[in-house]
Amino acid sequence: MARRKVGVVGYGHLGQYLVEHLLSSETCELCFVWNRTTSALKGKVDDKYILDDLEMFSQCGADLIVEVAHPVITETYGEKFLHDADYMVGSPTGLAKKELELKLRNATVKHGLYIPAGALWGGEDIKKMADRDTLKAVKLTMSFHPSSFRLLGELDVKNKAVKEKKTVLYDGEVRPLCSLAPSNTNTMAAASLAAHTLGFDKVQGCLIADPELTDYHIIQTEVWGNSHIKDKVFYVCTVRKNPATKGHVTGSATYNSFLSSVYGANGKGPGVHLC
Ligand SMILES: NC(=O)c1ccc[n+]([C@@H]2O[C@H](COP(=O)([O-])OP(=O)(O)OC[C@H]3O[C@@H](n4cnc5c(N)ncnc54)[C@H](O)[C@@H]3O)[C@@H](O)[C@H]2O)c1
Repeated sequence: MARRKVGVVGYGHLGQYLVEHLLSSETCELCFVWNRTTSALKGKVDDKYILDDLEMFSQCGADLIVEVAHPVITETYGEKFLHDADYMVGSPTGLAKKELELKLRNATVKHGLYIPAGALWGGEDIKKMADRDTLKAVKLTMSFHPSSFRLLGELDVKNKAVKEKKTVLYDGEVRPLCSLAPSNTNTMAAASLAAHTLGFDKVQGCLIADPELTDYHIIQTEVWGNSHIKDKVFYVCTVRKNPATKGHVTGSATYNSFLSSVYGANGKGPGVHLC
């Protein structure tokens, strides 16, 4: 069987990890790698894979394009990618922009828009509940060491002031949080897309800076749903304790999860899918 041709957009931590694994994959084959500075690719990736100009992506004949660079890629190229191929958005925080989410949902005519689960546990279950309209509420509480945050504005000021005491930096709707903490909220964005009946405006996100959390990222996912028994509410709570190096944004298990998502981003047809 022909291997699935995958193009990778971005050659940072995740991009390098994916490229290395795709080069030895039996089911997928690398068809291009693009990075905003080509010099970062020279000598590391065979020249035949290097795409200098992302506008020329369609010449590479990718079946799947994977973004692991920055949310801005989806704004500029998401719709164009979906015209030619399946598209996996590694930085789904960008979809917190309402018009962009709508534009991409509408662009999934021939191909699928795939959202990697990343650190989200139970995303498919959340989506099933949304599909059946039984979802009442979803809340993600993410705790990191202060040095693992990449924040903007007021949140950054608040985080920099954390010295010894565990501090809640934000507790509220996911939508405004995504633009203030784009690197730390991809899991919340994935949950908001899975919980499509609630979306970015109703899914709740809480960010906690914990100076004692030197070795782990902790992600708690809470889901509330309707039940068929009067006055009884369905409730699930999972806690994911992911080993992480102090100061790193991405925990170790998330790299493996991402690679599995690339392999799983296949065959679901048009529409938005978790993978
Ligand atoms: N979905 C998830 O759970 C999850 C998990 C980890 C990382 N991510 C996201 O994936 C992306 C890559 O993560 P990473 O750890 O490899 O980051 P990284 O910083 O190591 O690499 C990012 C790469 O993208 C490039 N880049 C940065 N800004 C850019 C821009 N404006 N335009 C084009 N290229 C740009 C950089 O040059 C670099 O090569 C980030 O957006 C990150 O938030 C998502």
